[in-house]
Amino acid sequence: MSGHSTYQPTSAFGRWFESRLPVIGLVHSSFIAFPTPKNLNYFWTFGGILSFCLVAQLMTGIVLAMHYTPHTEMAFSSVEHIMRNVNYGWLLRYMHANGASMFFIAVYIHMFRGLYYGSYKAPREVLWIIGVLIYLAMMATAFMGYVLPWGQMSFWGAKVITSLFGAIPLIGDYVVTWLWGGFSVDNPTLNRFFSLHYLLPFVIAGLVGLHIWALHVPGNGNPTGISVKSSQDTVPFHPYYTIKDGFAAVCFFIVFAAFVFYMPNVMGHTDNYILANPLVTPAHIVPEWYFLPFYAILRAVPSKLGGVLCMFAAIGVLFILPWLDTSKVRSAVFRPLYKQFFWIFVLVCIGLGYLGAKPPEGGYVIAARLLTAYYFLHFLVILPILGLIERPRKLPASISEAVLAKSKKKSGDSGGGSGGAAASGAAAAPDSRT
Ligand code: HEM
Repeated sequence: MSGHSTYQPTSAFGRWFESRLPVIGLVHSSFIAFPTPKNLNYFWTFGGILSFCLVAQLMTGIVLAMHYTPHTEMAFSSVEHIMRNVNYGWLLRYMHANGASMFFIAVYIHMFRGLYYGSYKAPREVLWIIGVLIYLAMMATAFMGYVLPWGQMSFWGAKVITSLFGAIPLIGDYVVTWLWGGFSVDNPTLNRFFSLHYLLPFVIAGLVGLHIWALHVPGNGNPTGISVKSSQDTVPFHPYYTIKDGFAAVCFFIVFAAFVFYMPNVMGHTDNYILANPLVTPAHIVPEWYFLPFYAILRAVPSKLGGVLCMFAAIGVLFILPWLDTSKVRSAVFRPLYKQFFWIFVLVCIGLGYLGAKPPEGGYVIAARLLTAYYFLHFLVILPILGLIERPRKLPASISEAVLAKSKKKSGDSGGGSGGAAASGAAAAPDSRT
């Protein structure tokens, strides 16, 4: 996964095993000796946090599935049974439901980190594209998982989203009937959603394996966006980043625990504690918070087909992002104009999220249309032009030089600072810039 292994087994058994299946060497070169830029900030801990989230979802999900019944007559009460009768069932369920939200919080931070520091640029395009595939699989998994408790929002959310496929010209109605497995959202729909909800996390796990493989070919990016020039720029992954990632994961799980133990339903919808009723439509059908920006885009467009296409295009555009951004400089730290547009884009996404939760009427629709237009403008017009007209700030010669300059600044230019000897060694290295 990450070049030649330097792992030396110490026992006779270890040498025997390693010469037959060098898996410990693989783990050693990928997660222990792996040379990692020494200037990674806390935004780089979210990849590890996401891996923990995936494992937590898999573990809690597998035990939940032992007690859940995927049948329209029993699904709702089997969830209540988990909450009341199963030992620690309430904990498993609240961890799983809030875990989904925490997973999305982490993935959004991870993705916006990528946007800010230009992590999607060469040579990490494939890594980014695999990330977008993971994101799509996460959305499909979360959507189907929400249907399983068979509450009012489960049913009506499923109905609204699956009906979107009816907008496909000519074959739309057939596609929807095929997806439902009948003429409405019913038992066959619930059953196949359960099956796919169980399957997809393992697909995600496979994609994460590829994601980390693709990461280990060029190595990690870093906040300066400049490439590693020499061994002075890196430290071994263990213990430096195992400790940092571990600390960040503990902090993240404290926040997670606060939701699970003190406000387990705050991110959910009260209507989902009402049994699904095909004859009563809720006043406002809203998806989970992490889908709201896309829901706003969907409803902003007057035609149904147009809305569906725009919603999918909003994610699709991420696939071609590495080629839309024409700047030679990766990190926003050295891109004064892009930095401003990045923050405008963040506000636009939050604005779309807010509007996705509002009824599609009056000023809300107009605002959603404007923000939707800006969303696409950002990727299709602003990014390509910005790279051509922007004058980036001067880049440091190396990561070491940037680290040294920062520590000098911190110690008030007194000539002190930590790690000076190590860092100064690479300061004179010639730079091929990005
Ligand atoms: C289950 C979900 C995911 C997991 C477990 C995961 C895991 C990781 C890990 C462990 C890293 C290295 C540490 C770090 O940079 O944080 C990483 C890097 C990266 N990920 Fe992900 N990731 C996930 C989803 C995504 C998504 C959805 C995207 C983008 C659409 C993405 C894009 C990237 C990029 C571009 C990097 C390289 C960053 C750099 O080194 O500069 N990842 N990911």
